Amino acid sequence: MNILQQMFGDQTEVFLDTCWPKRSYVADGAMSRFTQLSALEEFQDIRKLFNALPGPVDLLFAGGKRITVARSADALAPYNDGAAMVYMKDLEALPAISLACDELAKILDIPRHYVSCEAFAANHGVEVATHFDHETNFMIQIKGEKTWRFAENTSLPDPIYPFFPNNPNRFYQEGTHPYTGAKLPLTMPEGHEERLVKPGTTTFMPRGYWHATVAHEESFSIGFVINPPTVADIITYALLDRLHGDERLRAHPLDTLSESALQRILGDIQSGLDEVAKLSRTLPAEALLQRYKQSRKGNIRTLTSL
Ligand SMILES: [Fe+2]
Repeated sequence: MNILQQMFGDQTEVFLDTCWPKRSYVADGAMSRFTQLSALEEFQDIRKLFNALPGPVDLLFAGGKRITVARSADALAPYNDGAAMVYMKDLEALPAISLACDELAKILDIPRHYVSCEAFAANHGVEVATHFDHETNFMIQIKGEKTWRFAENTSLPDPIYPFFPNNPNRFYQEGTHPYTGAKLPLTMPEGHEERLVKPGTTTFMPRGYWHATVAHEESFSIGFVINPPTVADIITYALLDRLHGDERLRAHPLDTLSESALQRILGDIQSGLDEVAKLSRTLPAEALLQRYKQSRKGNIRTLTSL
């Protein structure tokens, strides 16, 4: 059975037909159905996981504060006393996890590098406040019981950034919608669902869904995260590539001290905008989608320093 069939069993087709990628789904079942994941020693004890992943981890505190500690072992004390939840990224250092990501990407037809895996370890009583994320998540509860509350996000579907009402980041100034300026809700919407998750439960959390959790005992869960570029990203990356083919548009706008230089730059910007108008009529949508599907290292324009 592939990883999706291990998650959803005989409901896999139902999940794909009726939920993926927009509606939540909670599938209960024994942890033993995850043949490779349930055998991982690193998931039996937090110290074993810290040994396998010695690098930096994040600590998430109940009030919304988040700090990074350079060595995972340094997270043990705040974990033990229940002050914070431990959040680990890049679990793909574990070969079984990397293979599961490969499989999930293939089944869902998503370029592999947009699928990753992270883990959450929390002691008894640790809460994660109401929030929404910008990614699509398949959470698997590995150890302990936890209550999940969740609801569809009708205020801001498909958000670009996560939002914690108790600690809004700079994209949500004073808790407002980034595009309309309306106040976003401060609490979980009414009519939300509540589920007790146990070892083996898979929770599919679509992008942007409101959620909050509380651990009833020592809890460990992993999340397969799907985070590809947006449709707008795909369009703008393709435009950027074409615009950078023009030397004038590749220039930095540094020379703005004289009126004549300023006019030249304004003219360059206008000619770039005219080129965008032309490209918008000629770039085929199919080619842009293919470019995304075949992308290997991400579409983001990043250069490694030499
Ligand atoms: Fe979350």
